[in-house]
Amino acid sequence: MSGHHVPPVPPSTQQVLETFRAWYRERGHVLLPPASLLRPGTDPVLFTTSGMHPLTDDLARGSHPAGRRLMSVQRCLRTTDVDEVGDDTHLTAFQMLGCWSLGDYPHPTSLRWGYELLTDGFGVPPGLLHATVFGGDGDVPADDDAARLWEGLGVPVERTVEDNWWSNGPVGLCGPDSELFVWTDPATPPSSTPTRDARWVEVANHVSMRFRRGTEGRLAPLGVPCVDVGTGLERLVAVLQGGASVYDTDVLRPWVTHGSSVWGLGPGDVRVVSDHLRASVLLVGDGLAPGHTRQGYVLKRLLRRALTRLWLHDPALRLVDLPDALVGGTGDLFELTVDPRQVRTVLAGQQRSFERVVADGARRVGRLRGAGRLGDDVRRELHETYGLPPEVVGRLLGDEPDGAA
Ligand code: ALA
Repeated sequence: MSGHHVPPVPPSTQQVLETFRAWYRERGHVLLPPASLLRPGTDPVLFTTSGMHPLTDDLARGSHPAGRRLMSVQRCLRTTDVDEVGDDTHLTAFQMLGCWSLGDYPHPTSLRWGYELLTDGFGVPPGLLHATVFGGDGDVPADDDAARLWEGLGVPVERTVEDNWWSNGPVGLCGPDSELFVWTDPATPPSSTPTRDARWVEVANHVSMRFRRGTEGRLAPLGVPCVDVGTGLERLVAVLQGGASVYDTDVLRPWVTHGSSVWGLGPGDVRVVSDHLRASVLLVGDGLAPGHTRQGYVLKRLLRRALTRLWLHDPALRLVDLPDALVGGTGDLFELTVDPRQVRTVLAGQQRSFERVVADGARRVGRLRGAGRLGDDVRRELHETYGLPPEVVGRLLGDEPDGAA
């Protein structure tokens, strides 16, 4: 990502937040406080994965105590993308700018306001935009209203089926959506379409949330059709700041700087370590402790993945050397009170327990080596029984490293 469209003075993340909030406040939206990242045990999903997630029941009912026009800046956590972390656009923890119409204004109004926010509010040249709309399937017709709106604004439109259908899970709220993309290659003028060229980066998704899918798979219309809009904050900021990736933004840069200059990590490792530690800080801030099941297990895995990257680079690196300023700054940005001492206690505990796991694994390797047995079954045992990541197993067994990450 990078851009000739960058406004003369790129906005900071705080300025992007202020512009977003003011924009929708002027259009009658009430700002809701962010909900916890941790979903209650009644939800089959462990973490808050989108802005609408905490509002699922309100949207299904079509009413909310704060009114029919709502907005929020919601912290979100997605572990489904964990293997993509380290690329330019995926983060485990991120913020979603969301706004909603609960049976109030219609979907095309939402699209127009979203377009005006990008062009008038953020200064993105209209010629760098592309939209996608739902092309229709056997159940739901093509979204011609959305296509007409975009055509009226002079924005090119691509029609897709699966890519323009949004659902909150296999059952529950869903509907056709329309996404807005920005062209991010400064070296060439816009070409091709969003599904065929990754230089188109998605900056907003407007869902016409008007169906519920039942367990038998059938769609039923909602009594009150809603509009659900989501924008990934870090991705939008990356586009507006003209950086090559989300790691090239004002909020991620201090993490990357620490990881590369203090810990000496290479470019791939520094991204993964920054991402995982930032997500872990937020989970601890929301009151989570590492554990063996459910949410606590995810936190443990994130910390062990980060530790693995650190130790493969330099076994003397310590998680507790994460600066308090990164912890506090991340809490402030996510509107969450995070106690740096609490974070340090969790990091130190995980570091100690993982050190024990690695030491046990190393003793086991020593015994097996003595017995002349170091085949694939041993790799499996060290991974599955001792809980050692494959990279650490490889190191214990004396494999050659994969090369610089
Ligand atoms: N709920 C929609 C999304 O997360 C807006 O993309």
